[in-house]
Amino acid sequence: MYRNDLVETARSMQNDAGGFGGGFGQTSHLATTYAMVLALTIVGGESAYQVIDRRAMWKWLSALKQPDGGFQMSLGGEVDVRGAYCAAVIITLLNLPLDLSPDSPAWASDNPNLFTGLADYVGRCQTFEGGISGKPDAEAHGAYAFCALACLAILDAPYRIFPRYLDVPRLISWLSSRQYAPEGGFCGRTNKLVDGCYSHWVGACWPLIEASMQCFSGPMPDLNSISGSEPIYQGLYDREGLIRYILSCGQDHSARGGMRDKPGPSSDAYHTCYVLSGLSSAQYNARLVASDDATMTARTHWDVSPLVNDIQVFDEDDRINPIDPVYAIPQSRREDIIAFFTAKQGF
Ligand code: FPP
Ligand code: ZN
Repeated sequence: MYRNDLVETARSMQNDAGGFGGGFGQTSHLATTYAMVLALTIVGGESAYQVIDRRAMWKWLSALKQPDGGFQMSLGGEVDVRGAYCAAVIITLLNLPLDLSPDSPAWASDNPNLFTGLADYVGRCQTFEGGISGKPDAEAHGAYAFCALACLAILDAPYRIFPRYLDVPRLISWLSSRQYAPEGGFCGRTNKLVDGCYSHWVGACWPLIEASMQCFSGPMPDLNSISGSEPIYQGLYDREGLIRYILSCGQDHSARGGMRDKPGPSSDAYHTCYVLSGLSSAQYNARLVASDDATMTARTHWDVSPLVNDIQVFDEDDRINPIDPVYAIPQSRREDIIAFFTAKQGF
């Protein structure tokens, strides 16, 4: 029943010229299209996949593609790193052809494609602080850091592509400064307050950074087995602090339920989604399984294991399901839609 309702909602929001608006009659936008494609992917099934007009989507994405490598968020709209990530997610989940439609503003005689110059564009968004801004020469923000890393991780294996386009040590330093004591949660940018939604935007950068340090030719150390007299290794950030912040400050304890920015503001759907995504990535270790010549993390698999150690600060009953570190939805759903559209000939 939910699938049928979602498919009809999606149909009403899809525009003939490609993409989804935020509601019926609204202009297509990359953020709402990304959200709708993910919603359809989570629900899954042929009717959910077939409602998407992939040919129109490809034409529309070609029209958004810019000569500088980035994507406009909507026709004539702003170009920013959200666009780079949303477009990469949509293109790979729907297995769209990479060729550009000849009427694209990015079309040129040397045949650029939808991904040409995208990693360079993302690399130009790293700032003097080491973080990533929405567009070149602006202020670094945690939400853009995730968009940048996840976009690059879609284009190629993290260990290869991150150091090629980013100064990774400076990014790690900036990301580390986002976690505050005593709160334990993350803020989004320098001198701003902790907010539960950055549990995902900043928190989800860590598995990707760790994947970039992973060498496929050797086994990844089992984080759970490093114990003894040494402090238990938790990865590159304080997971205990983040989980404590989420469970003690991120829940709306009123009858309303849901998750929130911090005590004071009420819960909302956005914070519920991203606080829970952050909780999930803090509760698991994800290891990318790929051969050394693998390109496109979209087509590779993550081995995910629950993080267990002596200082577990949550009950087992409060362990939630794992998510794909790049697409932030269940990995099996991502694999299912890609397999569905890979098996399909043409549009
Ligand atoms: C500042 O808000 C927030 C931003 C500058 C970026 C917001 C971007 C996202 C949440 C990413 C969206 C991503 C996709 C994939 C669509 P603020 O000033 O209210 O918050 P702050 O004080 O915490 O910086
Ligand atoms: Zn927030």
